[in-house]
Amino acid sequence: MKIDPSQLGPKENYLLLISAIVPRPIAFVSTQGRGGALNLAPFSFFMGVSTDPPTVAISVGRRKGEKKDTSQNIADTGEFVVNVVDESVAKRMVQSSGDFPPDVDEFAITGLTPAPSERVRPPRVAECKVSLECREVLTVLVGRKKQSLILGQILMIHVDDAILDGGVIDTSKLRPIGRLGGSNYSRTRDIIEMLRPQIDPNPPPKDP
Ligand SMILES: Cc1cc2nc3c(=O)[nH]c(=O)nc-3n(C[C@H](O)[C@H](O)[C@H](O)COP(=O)(O)O)c2cc1C
Repeated sequence: MKIDPSQLGPKENYLLLISAIVPRPIAFVSTQGRGGALNLAPFSFFMGVSTDPPTVAISVGRRKGEKKDTSQNIADTGEFVVNVVDESVAKRMVQSSGDFPPDVDEFAITGLTPAPSERVRPPRVAECKVSLECREVLTVLVGRKKQSLILGQILMIHVDDAILDGGVIDTSKLRPIGRLGGSNYSRTRDIIEMLRPQIDPNPPPKDP
């Protein structure tokens, strides 16, 4: 079957896209409003986009045409923290994703603990094993609905000592979860290793 997205409505395209691009890591994003109100919400349109300097991107849609609290707070303050979602915080992550008004603190709603960040004002989530303190470097408004594609440079990385092994994070200890289509999620317990092919940069000349 071929599907022309221009023939689908926005909701159909959304449902198709989020079930096609799977599994997606989940950025659990903490921000603060201009007046200091805390905010926490998950975003799975999330990826790393550069390593020098380390930079991530999140894509935040709109609610009834208005910016969501996360994109509004980042526009106002230029700062956010991406906390990586693992099995231990998965339920509370979903709980935080309700359409709460801007003055509602999702740390309080979920019982998660704000821990001080070092380079930005918004706190990180103490229960998360990996947190990335970010400064906004660029926001692009994408598409007819002006979805905010926000690029943030990572200024500080927090990693739980217990999951760090020789400078890399042990996935089996982190136990991250991924977002699938609809309301489905995946665990990361069935890991396979596959080595890339080694190509000789100076292959011997071929016989004529
Ligand atoms: C796992 C998960 C992933 C989500 N990913 C996104 C996303 O990538 N972009 C988006 O705009 N909303 C996403 N949402 C919905 C937001 O979390 C939701 O709209 C939330 O209320 C936004 O909060 P805020 O207004 O405090 O920013 C996601 C929800 C869940 C549960």
